[in-house]
Amino acid sequence: MDKPCAAAAARNAAPILGVLRHELRGCATLFEIGSGTGQHAVTVAAALPELEWQTSDLEQSHSGIRAWIADAGLENVLAPMCFDVLTAEPDGKKFDAVFSANTAHIMSYAAVRRTFELAGAMLGVPGVFCLYGPFSRGGAFSTPSNEAFDASLRARNADMGIRDLDDLEVLAGRNGMQLERTYAMPANNLLVVWTRNLPGCRR
Ligand SMILES: C[S@@+](CC[C@H](N)C(=O)[O-])C[C@H]1O[C@@H](n2cnc3c(N)ncnc32)[C@H](O)[C@@H]1O
Repeated sequence: MDKPCAAAAARNAAPILGVLRHELRGCATLFEIGSGTGQHAVTVAAALPELEWQTSDLEQSHSGIRAWIADAGLENVLAPMCFDVLTAEPDGKKFDAVFSANTAHIMSYAAVRRTFELAGAMLGVPGVFCLYGPFSRGGAFSTPSNEAFDASLRARNADMGIRDLDDLEVLAGRNGMQLERTYAMPANNLLVVWTRNLPGCRR
């Protein structure tokens, strides 16, 4: 099968790797929610061979993810799991990290809420949750282009939309995670890092 190529993923994979290289130090296992084409998985996992990267998405994305994994020939990227955040139930397996890119504005808010519940349940302690994408803060968009993007998403589907970091902060807190760092990324995106830590320990 020809590999599907997401132009945005091709552009942002290297900057995302730049942050994850730092934030995932010491991590041995990672679960990715909404792997899409699988481009982020193979790019980051190729650079971090000590990390085992579990891909996941809805079934329709699996053939593309498998094609990227097969082409990369990486042993540390695992075949995609069928994982719909709206129906998935944690099986008790813990990961050192959870990562998701460009999913929060595509999913309904109920699905975003469930993403944070799942991340909280699937992370060990210590654990790190990294979420990449466009976000607003305090109800304000960082740029007119992000505001226009939000309007276009909501016009397409009323359940979609750019999420506000203040709301995500509440979801993170409810699920045992604290905001650790926020990275400004190209194209007005952010990479937000929440952690679960042992009491009294910071990462
Ligand atoms: C815009 S794409 C981003 C893909 C990839 N992470 C990237 O950044 O290129 C959004 C992804 O979220 C996935 N997705 C949407 N709803 C989902 C759900 N309820 N559970 C899990 N994944 C979902 C889609 O299948 C799609 O792969």
